[in-house]
Amino acid sequence: MNRNIAIDGPAGAGKSTIAKMAAKQKGLIYVDTGAMYRAMGIFYSRLGVDPADAEAIAAHVEEADVSLDYQDGVQQVLLNGENVTSLLRTEEAGNMASVVSKHGPVRTRMVELQQKLAAEKAVVMDGRDIGTVVLPDALLKIYLTASVKVRADRRYKELQEKGEECSWKEIARDIEERDYQDMHREISPLRQAEDAVLVDTSDMGIEEVVNTVIALYEERLGRNGLQ
Ligand code: DC
Repeated sequence: MNRNIAIDGPAGAGKSTIAKMAAKQKGLIYVDTGAMYRAMGIFYSRLGVDPADAEAIAAHVEEADVSLDYQDGVQQVLLNGENVTSLLRTEEAGNMASVVSKHGPVRTRMVELQQKLAAEKAVVMDGRDIGTVVLPDALLKIYLTASVKVRADRRYKELQEKGEECSWKEIARDIEERDYQDMHREISPLRQAEDAVLVDTSDMGIEEVVNTVIALYEERLGRNGLQ
């Protein structure tokens, strides 16, 4: 029996914050799969390939080597050997990732790598298809969500704190677009796995969410004699 935690949910629900904290408390490796798709987005953008062009995407997929490394416990993403971690968190990289990630060849390559990582170490993995496709046997599956308004508020505050110009309306529209794209693509759309626990964080603080996840995890460990 594995000790893995799968966390799925829409953009801006707080998956990475919660996953990182849970990983630290429980001694698990945190794997941010969105960052891997973001790196693929950068790969195609540098090549000048139209992210909607399925044929061109497939033709170049074998040339992209995405791998993960950890520095002081923080995930680093390498694209063909180059550390691209600092380029991944922009809105543009997120939107690009959302478009590129709908293509089968890209998903196959990323899923293979993600399953390999989870087979080697106990992980908390977050993304869109972790509970449904990547780790269907995860010990605990969480579907983390929040209303569009709350997610846009959080993102707006985060950007303002960084001193970046932004419009709340544009952020909310971006979130809605990305939700639609992630939930309606043909391959591995974002959806709650049947056996996932729904956690709506709209009215919850970070500590409360982490404690909820940890309590569920410990209950699963105990039930499976893994404590
Ligand atoms: O979680 P994120 O915002 O970094 O993810 C960026 C995009 O990557 C997201 O809009 C959809 C895609 N993605 C995916 O298709 N499957 C995953 N497991 C993770 C991310």
